[in-house]
This record gives sequence, structure tokens and C-alpha cells, in this order.
Amino acid sequence: MKNETKKTRYITEEELSVQRGYTEQIAAWNAVHREETGISRKYYIQTFGCQQNEADSERLAGMAAEMGYESAETPADADLILINTCAVREHAEERALSITGQFKHLKEKNPDLVIGICGCMVSQETRKERIKKSYPYVSVLFGTSMLYRLPEILYTYLNGKKRLFYLDAGDAGNIAEGVPVRRGDKKQAWVSIMYGCNNFCSYCIVPYVRGRERSRTPEAILDEIRCLIAEGYREFTLLGQNVNSYGRDLTGGMDFPDLLAAVCALDRDFRVHFMTSHPKDATEKLMDVMAANPKAAKHFHLPLQSGSDRVLAAMNRRYTVSHYLGILDDMRKKMPDITVTTDIIVGFPGETEEEFAETLAAVERARYDQIFTFIYSPRTGTPAAEMEQLPEEVKQNRMARLLETQNRIMLEKNRACIGKTYSILVEGQSRGDKTMYAGRTEGGKLVHFPADEGLTLTGKVVNVKITDAETYNLWGEVLGE
Ligand code: 5AD
Ligand code: SF4
Repeated sequence: MKNETKKTRYITEEELSVQRGYTEQIAAWNAVHREETGISRKYYIQTFGCQQNEADSERLAGMAAEMGYESAETPADADLILINTCAVREHAEERALSITGQFKHLKEKNPDLVIGICGCMVSQETRKERIKKSYPYVSVLFGTSMLYRLPEILYTYLNGKKRLFYLDAGDAGNIAEGVPVRRGDKKQAWVSIMYGCNNFCSYCIVPYVRGRERSRTPEAILDEIRCLIAEGYREFTLLGQNVNSYGRDLTGGMDFPDLLAAVCALDRDFRVHFMTSHPKDATEKLMDVMAANPKAAKHFHLPLQSGSDRVLAAMNRRYTVSHYLGILDDMRKKMPDITVTTDIIVGFPGETEEEFAETLAAVERARYDQIFTFIYSPRTGTPAAEMEQLPEEVKQNRMARLLETQNRIMLEKNRACIGKTYSILVEGQSRGDKTMYAGRTEGGKLVHFPADEGLTLTGKVVNVKITDAETYNLWGEVLGE
């Protein structure tokens, strides 16, 4: 394959065929069970965390399906339960462990049930030990770089019935192409373009649990998207912890804007989103490619994290607030209607009241369409966890004030949409009201509109004129396709 580098370990065809061998053996075992009992064995996957984890779970589902498992509606119906965990915040870890605890009684009822935990949380030694000791009904544990080896792990467990604990075994830098995928959504598809992170922001656990940055080759990415287009997908999200550094580890010289342009040049009408961008690497070239390509969604997710230069430096973010705001100004000059979203952490160690006020001021100035807010959560092994922590009440209070500020801005911005027309990709009937349909603008704003019953608009793009607005929702009427 072209463009590969020596640093990244690409899982070879031989290694994948070993996995296919295990897959066939488990599929045969499941087929016998189906014939004898008339019932198929089933899998259930519980996913926590980011879109990368969603994408990983789709590969777990793909492998489970090839091994002859059907998808279970509920965990109680499953013979194989996989919990794909997130380690970014303590809360996500606690939720994963609490769900695991709820599966204990299922294992008591059905001793043949296999419970596996994978994802970012288990790549931490301390978590591994805790699960080993306190969750004896968990059968297998495997880190993110072991994901493609699920058939082997399952086969080994089923044949030995001994608990297995596989972490990354020094293999955190691999890329496995050709793993089967079973996508959860029929309209929009996640496409990982790279894995890992090199940035080591001082609060973040990701570089420790997902390894160093490594890019898939452009050939592999474009082939995947071509296949998805042929299957009927019309919405893609290119995924990476920092997509702006895509290609730096490849030899072909392709960077992220080149890749985005190459994706947009593929045949047919579709929309392509991407996330996440790091402000230190967002370039003018990227903006030009976005502006020039109608297929590039006019949506930019650019995490600010803090509005204080001192806090940003302590976070090891390597940009200043004014550099960041300059990027937004340039983006909006080139694409006036662009939707901008961000991530913000409140209560980083040592954040003063004045520094938090600078974050509020930056939010006022940036006028985001949406923000994702996080209370700082100390992660063992990261530098910020060693710093002096703020009291919980201070963090909670700042969070509430940040949300209040952003809600006001969103309502003002949504009200300014009234009277304008947007092209909406229809997602289906509105949740609460079946006489209404709901869809999203290119920038991800949720729009509800009445439609005749039986109208099969789902998956189509329609023009909707906005007639009413609230903080999180817009309402409108269809003008036509
Ligand atoms: N505490 C709180 N938020 C965090 N994030 C990452 N690590 C932490 C942490 N330790 C947030 C960042 C990142 C988003 C995905 O999660 O804002 O952009
Ligand atoms: Fe974590 Fe920073 Fe990497 Fe994002 S860029 S995954 S916040 S270390």
C-alpha cells in the first residue's frame, strides 16, 4: 500500500486471516446452537464516550455479526455483552462500572454469558486491577489496540473459561484495516481517518490510552467512503482526535485539507463533516477548501477549553485566546453562515474567578451555535491531576454561569434565524410529536416542521423556512425539496 510509514504497525493480511479463522469456528459453534435450539445467540454492546468509540463499537458489532451472533434488543437477551468504555472523565468511568455491576445478576442467571469490557478505561493499569478484583463476573478485558482481535479473545475464553486480561501489549500504535463493520445508522457514517493523539494537553488521558497519532492512508479512507456512497450513505463525519494533523506521519505529503478536497471530489451529492480540530493546527488552507466545496458541511467544531491565556498555557494547549478568535473571524469572513461549536472545561486547577470571567467574555465574543461544557475531572497519570484542585462548589457554580451565558446567546442566535430558509437533512419523525418531522441544518441545528402523515421524507434534504425559535430547537415550514 502506498503512503504507509514505518512507525505505524499496519495489521497484516495474515493477522486478519487468523482472526477470520477464529470467526469461522465461533460461527460454526453458533450455527450448531441455532440448529439444536432454534434460537440464535445474541450480542449487546453498550457504548460510552465519543464518536470514535461509536465507530469502534460498529466494528465490534461487525465482528460479532460475522461470528454468527444476532443483535439483542436488551442485555437480558444477550449471550455476549461488550461494554465499550470512555476514560475522559471520571463520571463516564463510574457509569461504565455501574452498568457492569447491573449485569452481575444476568451472569448469575446465565453462567454461559460472556461479559467483556474494552475501550479507553481498561487501558489504565489501575482500572484493570479494580475490575479484576471487584468484578469477578467480567470474562474478558481488552484495550483499544486489541479490538480487531475480538474473535481470538472470545475463542480463547470460550475454550478455556479462564478470565482474560489483554491490555495493549506494547501495540498501541497499530492500524487494522478490513475489520467488518455493522453501522448503527443508515444515513450517516463515521469514518475514522486517524487514531491516537500527540498533544498531551495536561488534563487529558487520551494520549495515554489511545497511543500516538497515526493516519490511515488516503487510499483506504477514500475506498471506504466510495463503498459507503454506493450503499446509499449521504452524510459522513471524518473522525480523529486532531484531524488537522492528519497525514503528518505519512510519506505521501497529503494533509487534512487535501484529504477533505479529495473526499469532496468523489461522485454524488453528500455532506462531509469532520471533528475534532485543534486551534494550533487550523490553517487558512483548510478554510479555503471548506469554502470552495459545497459538499463540505459549513460546521466547525473548534475546542477553546478556556478563555484565559494563563490557563491555556497550563493546559498545554499552545495557542492564545486572540489567535483562537482570529481563526473564527477568518472562518466567518470566508463563510458567513458557518456554524461554530466548541468544548470548554470549567474548574481547571488554579482557575481564578478573573480567569473564569475571561472564559465568559470569550464565549460572548465567539457567539457559538453550541458549546459542550465539562467540569474538570482529574485523571490519574496526567500532569493536571497533580495540581492544586478547586472545590466542587466553585466548579458547579461556574458551570451554571457558563450555561446561562451560552443559553442566552443561543436563543438570540436562533431567533435571528426566523424568516431564513435552510436546507435540512430529514432524520425522521419528531420524538414527542408524530405529526412533525425533524432534521438538522448543515451546522447541526435541530429543526421541526409539520409534514403530511405518510410522507416519507426521512433521509431526504428539504428546504425549510424558520418560523419560530427556542434555545435548543427551531420550527419551520417546508418549501420543497
Ligand atoms: N476533565 C474534563 N473535561 C475533559 N475533556 C478532556 N479531558 C477532560 C478532563 N480531564 C474534555 C475536553 C475535550 C472533550 C472531548 O472532553 O473539553 O475537548
Ligand atoms: Fe486530549 Fe488534547 Fe489530544 Fe484532544 S488534543 S485528545 S484534548 S490531548
